[in-house]
Amino acid sequence: MQSPHDYLLYRGYEECHNEPYPSRHNKVNMGVALNQDCFSLEYILKTAPDIDFEEKMLKFLFDNGVKVPKIMAKDEKTLMIEFLRGGTLSEALREREKSGGDFSDIAAALKDWLVSFHKVCGSFPDGEITSAGDLSLTNFTFVSEGFVYRYDFEKEDYTGSFSDDLHTLAAEILMEPCGEEYKKAAAKALLGGDYDKEKLSGALSRLGGETGLADLG
Ligand SMILES: Nc1ncnc2c1ncn2[C@@H]1O[C@H](COP(=O)(O)OP(=O)(O)OP(=O)(O)O)[C@@H](O)[C@H]1O
Ligand SMILES: [Mg+2]
Repeated sequence: MQSPHDYLLYRGYEECHNEPYPSRHNKVNMGVALNQDCFSLEYILKTAPDIDFEEKMLKFLFDNGVKVPKIMAKDEKTLMIEFLRGGTLSEALREREKSGGDFSDIAAALKDWLVSFHKVCGSFPDGEITSAGDLSLTNFTFVSEGFVYRYDFEKEDYTGSFSDDLHTLAAEILMEPCGEEYKKAAAKALLGGDYDKEKLSGALSRLGGETGLADLG
């Protein structure tokens, strides 16, 4: 695979903007490049110690129809990936609340993403995958076409179940700095008939949240 530098060079692009994005452990930058016809190209450059695992996961999921950004190029430590416009789901939740909008369409798209992941994860060739791993809302985005995409597949523990993941996502929603009524409605929209109070309470306690929030009424 081409390096990020060669990817831009051979297509006649030159980087004109590069800005750091928030990352707890790695180096993540958003870049913009322009060609002579003023066409712009947006991308993410992610440098992480185990970038090979993330590359395998992204490629496997992309090839199996799960919505993840496409890999554009790679060198030893850095992946160049398609930039997905839309901000994180953490931002989307807070923005929807501020504008008085309902979260249920995003919750439904998030559940669809999780279903699509669990349909294929058992066939991952490089390790046992029974969970989607780090379900922080900052690892997801909602694009204008109405789908949820997931980025960030670092090497970590990927064991669990669909139901565990769904309740962890609901707990992540309940941990956001939003009004209690609003986030409970959003978590309820995500869980639907799968809601299990005990499971949600366990997920909240694992994330360090208030277990009392698990009562969705
Ligand atoms: N393909 C992408 N398109 C748009 N934004 C992205 C993309 N990949 C990452 N980002 C943005 O960069 C942030 C950090 O990316 P990512 O979660 O992959 O890095 P990380 O180092 O694993 O961060 P952390 O450990 O904090 O989760 C994301 O929360 C998101 O805001
Ligand atoms: Mg992340």
